[in-house]
Amino acid sequence: MNADLRPSGPFRYGDRVQLTGPKGRLHTITLREGGELHTHHGVLKHETLVGQPDGSVATNSGGHEYLALRPLLRDFVMSMPRGAAIVYPKDAAQILAAADIFPGAIVVEAGVGSGALSLWLLRAIGAEGRLHSFERREEFAQVAEANVETFLGHRPDTWDVVVGDLVEQLPDVAAPASVDRVVLDMLAPWECIDAVAEALTPGGVVLCYIATATQLSRVAEYLRATGLFTEPEATETMVRGWHVQGLAVRPDHRMVAHTGFLITARRLAPGAVPPDVRKRALKKPSYGDEDIEVWTPGAVGDRAITDRNLRKRVREAQRAADGARLASGAGEPAGDDVD
Ligand SMILES: C[S@@+](CC[C@H](N)C(=O)[O-])C[C@H]1O[C@@H](n2cnc3c(N)ncnc32)[C@H](O)[C@@H]1O
Repeated sequence: MNADLRPSGPFRYGDRVQLTGPKGRLHTITLREGGELHTHHGVLKHETLVGQPDGSVATNSGGHEYLALRPLLRDFVMSMPRGAAIVYPKDAAQILAAADIFPGAIVVEAGVGSGALSLWLLRAIGAEGRLHSFERREEFAQVAEANVETFLGHRPDTWDVVVGDLVEQLPDVAAPASVDRVVLDMLAPWECIDAVAEALTPGGVVLCYIATATQLSRVAEYLRATGLFTEPEATETMVRGWHVQGLAVRPDHRMVAHTGFLITARRLAPGAVPPDVRKRALKKPSYGDEDIEVWTPGAVGDRAITDRNLRKRVREAQRAADGARLASGAGEPAGDDVD
């Protein structure tokens, strides 16, 4: 990685910085020449942070102190503008392990949604990998692209975003048996499994992230019925925070209890029939075409974003990306951050 883009070392113009001010109030700014953070506690000039080590404390004109830290990727994804629901950090970490995302991997992802998972995948594939992300809603793709650019300060040349349906577009982007890993985060991943089986290299991994047990069941049965994959494995990841202070050492009272399930399977070599499958006659799947009606966003509890709200998120994400681009480029003046 270009040393100028490493999220490490003393603060530079163009860096995103998370400030924790009086009463724990959080502000995220992008450092730029002449920039100022105005709050009712006073003014903090960006220049006071430049050259200081990450984790420094800066004082504003009113004598109030702010702890300054570069946001971690997990902080950024939780606060960035969203078009669609994001993959939470606990699941993203597990996805990287379960799907075995490695430096240099050729990875396909759909849908791109708000770009949270794209950021984790881009980081894991490194400079030699390739991420092809597919999204059928253009505005979601715009939010995702802006979010990635805001966090990285540039658009990585390891990434392309295709606006369209994965099933229709994948054959144009990836030759048969050329993709190492596929990650699907969408309502009806089973609709994409045939196209994914065609694109995956033998031994390659498909991973689906789904929100409900009914979706989990359907995709498992679909994978099995193709006869093209190993036996699917399903997991759920729960992370419970702990309060650790003095003798008060106990689990937190609150936690994110449910986000989604992961299911993985590996592409078999052409014509291969694993011994366990030979023994067990392929059963007819329990779902028929008529069931497809049942899997609507409302039926599985997804809250749809209104067009008006989505356009607002696009503008918000693009403003942040513009700010990041300006600040890391010529350091041109832009509007000040106002509390
Ligand atoms: C839950 S969001 C993905 C969130 C994303 N993983 C993130 O972490 O920000 C699901 C997205 O999949 C898209 N989608 C659903 N089916 C698709 C398909 N067949 N091809 C491409 N995109 C699809 C939807 O438009 C939606 O934006």
